[in-house]
Amino acid sequence: MFRSWIVLFVVFIVYTYMVYSNCDKRNTNDSIPDKRALAGWKTWQAKNCQSCHQIYGLGGYLGPDLTNVARDTAKKEIYLRTFIKYGTGKMPNFHLNDSEVNSLIAFLYWIDKSGKSKVSKDKVTWSGNYNLEQ
Ligand code: HEC
Repeated sequence: MFRSWIVLFVVFIVYTYMVYSNCDKRNTNDSIPDKRALAGWKTWQAKNCQSCHQIYGLGGYLGPDLTNVARDTAKKEIYLRTFIKYGTGKMPNFHLNDSEVNSLIAFLYWIDKSGKSKVSKDKVTWSGNYNLEQ
């Protein structure tokens, strides 16, 4: 009985080590928002963008998920700026000043660097991580 506990304990330690050593290498300075992204994050919360938009699938569903909108090469920065500055028929115009618009864009670029909102199952490794470049 006692022996099986030791075996389980050793397996646990080895497995934990393997998961940690295979761990995400993404945790660089990119994961810390700079001043502008942080200001954008606050505006995001103050204007409740999340009530219509999702980040990683969480949020309202009137508008699209914005986690990776910044990496979409078909939609350039000017595209984001136009939506955020003027709104559309469905999205309100929040009458934001230029610095708020710029910081919201910085926030969207920063959140994009954190990962992909939809990762296909075959890209996920055995440890639960995935490679951003894939
Ligand atoms: C009342 C709901 C609502 C709120 C609140 C809202 N949006 Fe939107 N947003 C939309 C909808 C709907 C669209 C899609 C455009 C359309 O169909 O007119 C959109 C589109 C966008 C797009 C373009 C996305 C794309 O891929 O085309 C961006 C960027 C965006 N919103 C940013 C924001 C930001 C930043 C805020 C907060 C300041 C915000 N939105 C608040 C409803 C909303």
